Amino acid sequence: MVEVHPNVEYVMLTGQQITRRVKMVAKQLDKLYEGRKPVVVCILKGSVIFFSDLIRNMKTPLTIDFMAVSSYGNGTKSTGELTIKKDLATDIKGRDVLIVEDIIDSGNTLYNLKKLLNARAPASVNIVTLLDKPERREVPMEPEYTCFVIEDEFVVGYGLDYAEEYRNLPYVGVLKRSVYENA
Ligand code: IMP
Ligand code: MG
Repeated sequence: MVEVHPNVEYVMLTGQQITRRVKMVAKQLDKLYEGRKPVVVCILKGSVIFFSDLIRNMKTPLTIDFMAVSSYGNGTKSTGELTIKKDLATDIKGRDVLIVEDIIDSGNTLYNLKKLLNARAPASVNIVTLLDKPERREVPMEPEYTCFVIEDEFVVGYGLDYAEEYRNLPYVGVLKRSVYENA
């Protein structure tokens, strides 16, 4: 049994469930990119665990790169504005780009990011997300691949944080409300 962090209300997705699903999605991506060499972009920091599990399950030749953007601050609500904190080192012109995201909430982050990357004339841009909270969408944003659609709960672990904590939990868990409501 995995010990559950005292600030976690309940485990939503176990490490095992995630591993199984990530392998399935990696296979679908291999099929999609057959005969091509995508650049797989990890959106720091939340996607880092998902990204490293995903690419190790992909057989397609690929290159990797990292980007850090933010629209969140320390709270639990999106501001709608996108700040680039770290840009890609790769020239994506003519490349197939696969964006790897941890979670899509309002959709603002990816909506703006996709627009920004499309302006660099890539061959294609696809999005794979670990989690999707479609109820909270404020802008149209449909990822091509989603591992899990989840309820509107604030979750942490497997890369996801609250105020930079909990990223190393080996599962996705719902954070106790008392942790952020009195913060
Ligand atoms: P969006 O722009 O509202 O779609 O927000 C996407 C970003 O918000 C994600 O990349 C996360 O960093 C953060 N986020 C949204 N929901 C959660 C959550 O439940 N837990 C942790 N981070 C979240
Ligand atoms: Mg994020």
